[in-house]
Amino acid sequence: MTNIKAFIFDLDGVIVDTARYHFLAWQKLAQELGIEFTHEHNEQLKGVSRVRSLDIILELGGVQASQEEKDKWLIQKNEDYLSYLVNIDESEILPGVLPVLHYLKNKNQLIALGSASKNARPILEKTGVMPLFDAIVDGNDVSNAKPDPEVFLQAAKKLNATNENSIVFEDSVAGIQAANTANMVSIGIGDATTLHEAKHLFKDFTFIDEAFLDTLIN
Ligand code: BG6
Ligand code: MG
Repeated sequence: MTNIKAFIFDLDGVIVDTARYHFLAWQKLAQELGIEFTHEHNEQLKGVSRVRSLDIILELGGVQASQEEKDKWLIQKNEDYLSYLVNIDESEILPGVLPVLHYLKNKNQLIALGSASKNARPILEKTGVMPLFDAIVDGNDVSNAKPDPEVFLQAAKKLNATNENSIVFEDSVAGIQAANTANMVSIGIGDATTLHEAKHLFKDFTFIDEAFLDTLIN
């Protein structure tokens, strides 16, 4: 029997270079609120929902706010974020990602998205990779954000795959923890110090070769 595995990809910072736009939009808001917000702080926000991200920033600055204010800031952050995305196209796809997606597709493997973002679908459309996905689970589908494994569990279920046969690509600490909790194979994309809990680690997708993908498939 042919081996078929479920390959689940995070979106922001894994498929597309949008993590930097999230950072810019949060940093703009933090500045307006007089809160210092660095790249190091930003690691805590990666993979985390929009609502939780705002709470983390407010906690960093020791700022108390009403629900009304928070709702206004969440809308403002998303509008700023979307303004960076207006003109994005396939050039936003991170190096090495397309060859990996196409290799897996040619090997008849299953491919899903497992993202916390509520903006995932338009990003996949604009960058032209939507047709490569067999299933999509995003921030509109889940009630529990990473590090809760819900997003990946839903993705595996949609692909009719067991957790043990599922492989997750992630750039966030929260996402690696979610994959590990679900007993899936976690593959960190990024920095070894930040993502030390990942089962396998690559600086970016250009370091992932076909031989490695074959070991995951078999
Ligand atoms: C995750 C990002 O993929 O999605 C987070 O890593 C982001 O930074 C989260 O906050 C929610 O995204 P959005 O697009 O719904 O605000
Ligand atoms: Mg990410």
